[in-house]
Parts: sequence; C-alpha cells; structure tokens
Amino acid sequence: MNPDSTLSVIDQVFESITKSQESRLDLIIREKGNIRSVGEGIATVGGLPNVVTDELLKFEDGSLGLVYNLDEHEIGVILLDEEQHIDAGDEAFRTERVLGVPVGEALLGRVVDALGRPIDGKAAFRAATYLAVERESPPIMNRQSVDTPLQTGILTIDALLPIGRGQRELILGDRQTGKTAIAIDSIINQRDTDVISIYCAIGKQRAEVNRVVSDLQKNDAFENTIVLSASSSVPVGLQYIAPYAATTMGEYFMEQGRDALIIYDDLTWHARAYRELALLLRRPPGREAFPGDIFHIHARLLERSTHLKESGGSMTALPIIETQGQDIAAFIPTNLISITDGQIFLSPDLFQKDVLPAIDIGKSVSRVGGAAQLPAYRIASEELRLAYSQFEELEAFSRFSSRLDEDTLHRIERGRRIREVLSQDQFDTIDVVQQIALLIAVTNGLFDELDLSQIKPACRMMRNNIESELGNMSTKIKEGEKLEKNEEERVVNILRKLVDKKF
Ligand SMILES: Nc1ncnc2c1ncn2[C@@H]1O[C@H](COP(=O)(O)OP(=O)(O)O)[C@@H](O)[C@H]1O
Ligand SMILES: [Mg+2]
Repeated sequence: MNPDSTLSVIDQVFESITKSQESRLDLIIREKGNIRSVGEGIATVGGLPNVVTDELLKFEDGSLGLVYNLDEHEIGVILLDEEQHIDAGDEAFRTERVLGVPVGEALLGRVVDALGRPIDGKAAFRAATYLAVERESPPIMNRQSVDTPLQTGILTIDALLPIGRGQRELILGDRQTGKTAIAIDSIINQRDTDVISIYCAIGKQRAEVNRVVSDLQKNDAFENTIVLSASSSVPVGLQYIAPYAATTMGEYFMEQGRDALIIYDDLTWHARAYRELALLLRRPPGREAFPGDIFHIHARLLERSTHLKESGGSMTALPIIETQGQDIAAFIPTNLISITDGQIFLSPDLFQKDVLPAIDIGKSVSRVGGAAQLPAYRIASEELRLAYSQFEELEAFSRFSSRLDEDTLHRIERGRRIREVLSQDQFDTIDVVQQIALLIAVTNGLFDELDLSQIKPACRMMRNNIESELGNMSTKIKEGEKLEKNEEERVVNILRKLVDKKF
C-alpha cells in the first residue's frame, strides 16, 4: 500500500469529524443575552459581546428586535413586533442575520407591513427572494442621468416641473393641501405603463391607508402597486424601518432593469418616529430635538433612488413632507430640499381659492427632469411658464389699480385662461397627447375669445377628440419626436376648428 494514500484517507476521516463537530458546535454556541429593560418600542439588552449593529435579535417569545445602539455595557434594541410579551430578565439571542424583507412580483396588488408580511387578510405569497432592508446605494459610477420622463398625468407638473425616471422630487406643503392626491394620481397614471409603484405609508391611520388602496383599486392601478403600511398604531421601530423596506422592494425591480416609482407619505412622520427612538435610546438630541444623524437617515434613503447604468432600470422617488405654517425653512424641510432634485410646493392659499392642484409654480422647481421631458412640450411649456409668471405678478398688482392698459389686460386675461387649463380634478389624469393639445391651444390664444366658464368644457371637448384628429402626429408626440413647425401649425388649426365648431 502506498503510505501517501493512507495518509490521505486518514486526513479525510479527520476532516469529516471536525466538520461535524463544527456544525454541532455551531448549534451549541449561540450567543445569548438578557433583557435589562423594556420600554415603549425599545429594549436594552446585556451580554452578547459579539453582536453587530443592524443585527436581528430574537427574544424568548419569538418576537424580533433590531440592534441599534452598541454601548459599552448594553445594547439598545428597536422592537419590531406588534405583539410581544417580553420582560426584563428574558433571554435574547443573536441571529447573525440582518433584517431582510421579501421582494418580487408576488407583492404587487398587496398590502404589507414594514417586514413584508401581508396585512390585507389575503393568502400568503411566495417571495422571489429576501433582500436586506438597509442596502448600500449604487456608486456614482453605476448611475446614469435621467433620460426618460415619468409622466404624472398632472398637467402642471408634466409641463412645468417635469420629472424624469430616477429623479427624487419632494412634495411639500401644509396639511390638507393635496400632497397625497398628487402622489396617488402619479401612481394612477402608471396603470397603462410598465412602471411598478410602491406607496409607503408612515404613521397614517389605518382608515387613511384603506382609502388609498380603494382609490387605487377604483382606478385600476392597484395591480401594479405595492402598498407598505406602518400605521400610527404599530411600534415606532416599524415606522422607522418602513421606508427602507419599501425601497428594498423597489430596488428589486430597478436592479432587474425595470422602472419603479416610490412614494414616502410622509417623511415628517418618519423623522418624528426616529426622534422618538433616539430619545428613548438616549442619543443626544440636537436641533429641534432631532438626533445628529437625522440628515443622514434621509440622505441614505433617497440616494438609493436612481437610474442605473447597467440594467437601465430606475427608481423615481416622491417623498412627501408636511410643513407647518408654510415654513419651508424648518429643519426637516430644508434637509430634504437639499437632498432632492427639486420640490413641488403646495400652497394652502391656492387650495383655499380652489386653484387645484394647489401647486405654487414660483416656489417649485425640477432640477433634472427637463432633460427627460418629451420634446413636444418644450416650446409650449416655456411660453406657458413665462406668461404665467408675468400674470401672477400683474394680477397681484392690478388689485391696486383700476386703469390698466390694453396689453396688461390681455396678459391678465390670458393668465386666467392658463390657470383654468392647468386646474385639474383628482383622479382625472391627462395623457401626453391631450396635455400637448391643451398647451398648444392656450399658448396660441385659442381660448382667448371664450368666457372663463367655457374653458373647462372646451378643454374636455378637446381631450375627447384630439387623439383621432391628430392621426400619426399623436404617435410622434408619444414616441418623443419633435413636431416640425408646419406640424405644430396643423395642430393649432385642428384645435381651432374644434373650438369654432363647438363654441
Ligand atoms: N386636484 C384636486 N381636485 C379636487 N380635490 C382635491 C384635489 N387635490 C386634493 N383634493 C382634495 O383635498 C383634500 C386634501 O388632499 P390630500 O391629498 O389628502 O392632502 P394632504 O395629503 O396634503 O393632507 C382631499 O379631500 C382631496 O380629495
Ligand atoms: Mg396626505
């Protein structure tokens, strides 16, 4: 017998023994600690010397906690279960895993909690896989500038504040100014597209979330949407992780080369949930009692929305912030304004005057979407912006003066017509071709002779007829081709005939 081969046989036997011992050891040496205190949504744990930040802990009763603070003598843990029966002295175990959530197609048309568990009373689903809730944002090298529009179906936004796929656009305003309405309409407008939507509700009442779900269902937009809800009644830890979990669900689609739209409604509440956790865990408070890393928690969240170079997929983020007394200089709003690529500012004054959507165009901006806007918008949008901003100034001024010259009067009348055209009901999203028709009509003065009260019906009539009247020009508009000068003139003539015929 060859002595070498004997050796190798002995080696193998030895190896297999150590392996089996290792796996047995693995089972035996699971680190165990003890709960020192349990508070509102948090707990402190002693022991577990090797535990790492963001690791999941499992308690005696099976409920979960997230390691958040690593102090010298104890660990601060965020509790993640609604039902937990734990007490000081109970055991806490390491899992050596980070928090993950299910992702995949199966979540579409479902309502889930911040851990991805269904809360709609329907059957369990089979996830494509599980991904970590906290993930690194893609490096700059892997990002691409936005080049495709994300049509919201809201004329004011698509024409004057265009959003591109992969952009982060903040929606902010006082309560009851139509913030959620804009977000929901943007989701509804994706119903005939390939865009997947995720609506992440943070700190809302259950009834509010139910209303959103039923609005989406009524408008045939729920089947392509995931609703993630961390309502005001769930532990504050779940409210804190909700937006990260929702983002992970969107990233799954983005990384596959698909386009996702994610709404965070709202991050004011998220910041408050985080402040509560931080204060409970005795992190030192800073400005407005928020912990020092409050900027970072939102920056690292929104950095994950982008347009990927390799897969070509994107995630567009519309975070919502609720201001108080229109104060956009408060801590959280200023942070978010600096993190995002622009903001849509909703004004309670406009809302009160029934100018809906109550978007204050002068205070709103979209810094990157212009590059992605369909070419057909460009000329009409620019004229519209100019005419409208002049109008706003003139209208304010004309209140103090009764004698106005011909030209000023004309501008004011044109401005009023623009405002009529831009006003839009909820759940009545407007497609690209109809939007272009309305813009061309108003900037070419086709509504100038009409009474203000006739503008709405005239717009409706145009919207109903334009697609068939335009023929192949409507395909051109939709596919992002520029209209030639003579084509635009043809559109104006078609629209003029429509107005003349009916009004
Ligand atoms: N464009 C609109 N047309 C008509 N009603 C609207 C419009 N936008 C919002 N609303 C109504 O205004 C109210 C407040 O809107 P909501 O989106 O809930 O405000 P917020 O989210 O800012 O608190 C709701 O009743 C909503 O239906
Ligand atoms: Mg709202």
